[in-house]
Amino acid sequence: MVTLAEPPIPEDRSKALPPLMPIMEVIRLRVRLGQPGILFAEQKFDPEDLETLAADPVLTQLSDYEFSQYSMEPTALAFLKDMFEAFKPTTVIELGSGISTAILSRHMREIHEGDIEPRYVTVDQSADFALLTQGMLERVGTSDMVQMIVAETHPVETEGRKTSWYNVNAEKFAQALGGRKADLVIVDGPTAGGAHGVVGSRFAALPLLKDYLAHEALFFMDDAFRDPELEIAAAWAGLDYAHVFGHKSVGKGVLVGCYLDEAAG
Ligand SMILES: C[S@@+](CC[C@H](N)C(=O)[O-])C[C@H]1O[C@@H](n2cnc3c(N)ncnc32)[C@H](O)[C@@H]1O
Repeated sequence: MVTLAEPPIPEDRSKALPPLMPIMEVIRLRVRLGQPGILFAEQKFDPEDLETLAADPVLTQLSDYEFSQYSMEPTALAFLKDMFEAFKPTTVIELGSGISTAILSRHMREIHEGDIEPRYVTVDQSADFALLTQGMLERVGTSDMVQMIVAETHPVETEGRKTSWYNVNAEKFAQALGGRKADLVIVDGPTAGGAHGVVGSRFAALPLLKDYLAHEALFFMDDAFRDPELEIAAAWAGLDYAHVFGHKSVGKGVLVGCYLDEAAG
């Protein structure tokens, strides 16, 4: 049984979003279909999906890049690029670095050309994958605006749940943000699938990033049609300080919501 709180809907945010599938409708569909994992596509995306990023300068430059099952899919990246254009975030936190970091940091720089200095903080649990991301950032020219934090995961307890989260101290995080608060968050880590993943660990993103988020900061969680992430979406919708707008059916599903700073309300 899922109970959903109904905090006020931040109208200026929702007006700029495309139509989304309400969380309760997605969960009803999943329950009706029955079979575990049925909404989560295991097979690789259709090669035609790459056309959504056909004009992307990063993919043109990194023409040797191979999407893996860990990468955010092209249609999800194209959706996020649109959202960056609509909301023009100045300060981004990303959990789980990779091709998304290269494409979105470059896009953010283009959006803010001649305007403010954008900041993009990305967190990776693996020094090896962080190094691969750094290599891509150097090639596409955004290594100067991206702050990479490498932090292994460790057990934590938050909002009454035992889970796993990046072991980053608050000072390091605040420093990487340059004293700003993030106005957009991408949740694509910690690794939740595969041999080393901790199922459901993305839940901790909202409770543990709260202190670093601006009022009405948007969050986007990838892999949102996977069963544990559906459960996280329902749990987030029940938090007083979050509003879940719904699912965008791109890639492996992207959940869209925003953080509500109770002090600002
Ligand atoms: C879902 S991935 C993040 C992907 C990233 N946002 C992108 O679009 O490329 C989450 C974490 O998985 C790890 N990872 C990335 N590629 C991997 C691979 N091929 N095998 C195992 N782990 C991987 C990295 O440590 C990364 O932070």
